[in-house]
Order: sequence, then C-alpha cells, then structure tokens
Amino acid sequence: MYVCLCQGITDGQIRNAVQGGCCTYRDVRIALGVGTQCGKCACVAKQIARETLGEE
Ligand code: FES
Repeated sequence: MYVCLCQGITDGQIRNAVQGGCCTYRDVRIALGVGTQCGKCACVAKQIARETLGEE
C-alpha cells in the first residue's frame, strides 16, 4: 500500500527502514524522504513507523 504518493513510498518500505536501523520516525523521514513534500502522509507514516518500533 502506498503511504506517500509524492515520494512513492509504501508501508513495506517504512517497515524495512525501521528494521534496517531507523530508530525514530525522523530517521525514516530522512532515509526515505517520506512526508517531505505535501506532508499529507505524515500521520499515517508516523503511525506505521511507531507500530513497527513497538511503541504503538
Ligand atoms: Fe507524502 Fe505528499 S504524500 S509528502
């Protein structure tokens, strides 16, 4: 599922980024560029990152 249409980022890519060493949503944002354009995806992207980090 696409989370960020501006950058073409999927939920799987966000999970992979977290599993690959991103410790915060901020890290994911820097690594993938998710939420850096229109910002509409930020809430969902943050939620997926948090869920994957286990701090739901
Ligand atoms: Fe992610 Fe626009 S949908 S920045």
